[in-house]
Order: sequence, then C-alpha cells, then structure tokens
Amino acid sequence: MISEKMQKALNGQINAEIFSSYLYLSMAAYLESQNWSGMAAWMKTQSGEEYGHAMKIYGYLNEVDGTVVLEAIEKPQTNWKTPQQVFEEAHKHELHITKKINDLVALAIEEKDYATNLFLNWFVTEQVEEVATITRINNKFNLIGDNKTSLFLLDRELGMRAAK
Ligand code: FEO
Repeated sequence: MISEKMQKALNGQINAEIFSSYLYLSMAAYLESQNWSGMAAWMKTQSGEEYGHAMKIYGYLNEVDGTVVLEAIEKPQTNWKTPQQVFEEAHKHELHITKKINDLVALAIEEKDYATNLFLNWFVTEQVEEVATITRINNKFNLIGDNKTSLFLLDRELGMRAAK
C-alpha cells in the first residue's frame, strides 16, 4: 500500500505532466498562428507524450491501490516573441520537471518505497532524453540566428517528428 505522502506527490506529478501537455499545446497554437507548422506539429506530438506521462502515473497509482485525485490545471502562457523563445522556454520547463522527478525519487527512497522508486526510473531516463532533444534543437536555433532559409529548413525537420 502506497503512503499518503507518496500518493499526494504522485498526484502532484500527474498535475505537472498534464500542465506540461497543456503548455506544449499552447506553444503549438502560438507556432501555428505564426505559420511555423512543422514546429507546431513537433509541439503537438510533445503535448501528447506529456499526457501519456500523466496516464502512466495514473495507471501506477491504481495498480498499487492508491487514489488518483485530479486538481485544477493552471492556465498556460499563450504568447511568445519568437519560435526560438518557445523552445528555450520548453527547455527551462523540462529542467523544472526533471527537478520534480528527482524530488519524487528522493521521497520514494526516504519512504523506503522501492516499487515507486523502480517505477520512477523510467521517468528519470525519459527526462535525460527529453532535455537532450530540446537542447539539440536550441543549439540549432543558436547556429541559425536570423537566417530565414535555415529557419524554414528547421521547421521542416521538426515537422518530420509528427510523421514518424
Ligand atoms: Fe513528462 Fe517532458 O516531461
């Protein structure tokens, strides 16, 4: 049986993952409005993945006889200055999520909840991958600068993700 403290923290993470999904959908909508359809497609796919992360925790809590309690989702930002700024903010957000996952792992260890610790391993690995992916994209933005042609190529490249 999962502890109250661990259950509350995992419910908090469900909220954080659904917020991530909402934030990335908001970023997709902004990119769409600026006609960066490839980048928008990338963000929409990311939004779907975040919802999947929330559902993974939802499934786990049910499996260990816990209770899922859904809280209100914060309103995400709706406007950014440039597509580059969108991806910079996404990077910052992923670092914030990594910290939250690390805090969950620390709590699981403190609670001697080895099953939850093991479950969270997947998220630890996933965060490394997500931060690396967004870092690579941001590095490309930095290389490109204001070169419109290169930005169009990057837009096309990022759009390929949705097609995979
Ligand atoms: Fe679910 Fe991007 O962390």
